[in-house]
Amino acid sequence: MSMYSRRQFLSGAGALGAATACPGIWAATVAQSGLSSDEILRLETQAAGFSNPLRLPGSSGLFGVLPATDFKEVHVVRSEIEVLPGQRTPILAYAVESRGKKFLNPALLARRGDEMRVKLINHIDQPTVIHWHGLSVDSRNDGNGLNVVAPGQSMDYAFALQDRSSMYWYHPHAHGYIPQQAYHGLASLLFVEDDDEAALRKELALALGESEIPLVLQDKEFDAQGRLQYAPSAAQAFGGWVGSRLMVNLTERPHMKAGRRIVRFRILNGSNARSYRLAFLQDGKALGFYLAGTDGGLLAQPLRIDQTFLSPGQRLDVLVDFREANPTRPVTLASLPFDPMHQEGGHDMATMDHSQHGATQGAAALAAMAMEGDARALMRIDLAPSSTPYDRRLPARLSSLSAPVEPAGAARRMQLGHDGKGHWTINGGVYDHTAVPLTVQRGARETWRIENAERSMPHPMHLHGFSFRVLERLGSPAPVRSLAGARGLLPQDQGVVDTLQVWPGESVRIAIDFSHPHQGDQDYVFHCHTLEHAEAGMMMRYAVKA
Ligand code: C2O
Ligand code: CU
Ligand code: CU
Repeated sequence: MSMYSRRQFLSGAGALGAATACPGIWAATVAQSGLSSDEILRLETQAAGFSNPLRLPGSSGLFGVLPATDFKEVHVVRSEIEVLPGQRTPILAYAVESRGKKFLNPALLARRGDEMRVKLINHIDQPTVIHWHGLSVDSRNDGNGLNVVAPGQSMDYAFALQDRSSMYWYHPHAHGYIPQQAYHGLASLLFVEDDDEAALRKELALALGESEIPLVLQDKEFDAQGRLQYAPSAAQAFGGWVGSRLMVNLTERPHMKAGRRIVRFRILNGSNARSYRLAFLQDGKALGFYLAGTDGGLLAQPLRIDQTFLSPGQRLDVLVDFREANPTRPVTLASLPFDPMHQEGGHDMATMDHSQHGATQGAAALAAMAMEGDARALMRIDLAPSSTPYDRRLPARLSSLSAPVEPAGAARRMQLGHDGKGHWTINGGVYDHTAVPLTVQRGARETWRIENAERSMPHPMHLHGFSFRVLERLGSPAPVRSLAGARGLLPQDQGVVDTLQVWPGESVRIAIDFSHPHQGDQDYVFHCHTLEHAEAGMMMRYAVKA
């Protein structure tokens, strides 16, 4: 923590409650959060040296764009790609063939209502299963890990894509193997499109891969041969594995070109454990941008913000109007410094002594964990004059999303903690795949109050089966409160979400509607999306009774 001390940050967040909710504008600014223009310029200088072209989804290959209905089989394989320039990196991947073209981790495109029919074939030596993160499907198709696909075996998925338009994602979910498999490459995107989405694309003349850019944020460790390292010590298996090399679409130190127009970024935090505090920077200042959507699709109206947190599992739909920027200078996408609040048990987990685990890469990752909240440039965006004149305006309405309705009845409490023996707990319990501690009635509307202990870590809590709405945040730490508006809510809390960051000491009330169109009883899980936390117990089964 050289450039930046935690103390300084906490006291710098002076403008508490300043962010009163003017419609459409979130008033908190980077300046109010205590970041100086010099610190911003330092991030811009970092990005000035970025020399790798950002990997973009093409029409085949890694992240190639593929209609979700255009293939019948997905093969889980070991493969090799060039992640770092000039080096071959062994990875795990979803391999697909369609119309004579080969794809690895295809970015799937679907129209709301499409039927997905696909056979998963497991070619690796570990059990695996695909979970469709954010989709409301029945528990068999959810891939929640209660059933897994053994090596050499296969499983058939068949379900309708009934969710709102958004960028969802898919990744492995066999308990005991989730963090390693996701870290080694198994993860990609699934876009669902509906009429609101089509209208926005048309209105802003957006084209995927050109003016609409998916960004998958991850952090990795490599050895000298370019092989991915994943070897958590006991402390990292508990606290979370954080890599020191930041990647966007598996490109380190990337740059891209953008026209002087409105560009849409669809951002996934696909990291195992690292959170980001994202901002677009130029000339020592943060550029304002618009939050257009969250995990579960478009907001009712765009919200003007200048920064936002993004925790593992969460997505953001963001519009940046580069006509507001200085055309002669690049823009930097960065993660601003923040206190990662690793304060389980009152000590900084990253400074614990783990010398008995000894591995070098372990030491590097421990150091990275200590630096989780450090200021880091993620990507440089060079502005290019538009070849054709662009005069589009942001629409005032994006979707017909209404304000959440607070369910009647007492809230169900979900207490997040740990047992002091290396396990994270929900209501005091550690994950047991044979136990169902909670049953809800199909069609019930419930309020959950998720309470994180004071001595804890941030927990990005994810619900399978249903997305939900956020009603209120209480007890937020100062850096979070300084970005909040009415009822302590953050800009992202205005949307439909499936993953919710709950900071130490916070209690967050959410509204869940357990209505679904599936036949019979359903089984799902509720868990922390810091993947190591879920492995270390922070996962709970729940059933929905028909
Ligand atoms: Cu994205 Cu149960 O996870
Ligand atoms: Cu999920
Ligand atoms: Cu957690």
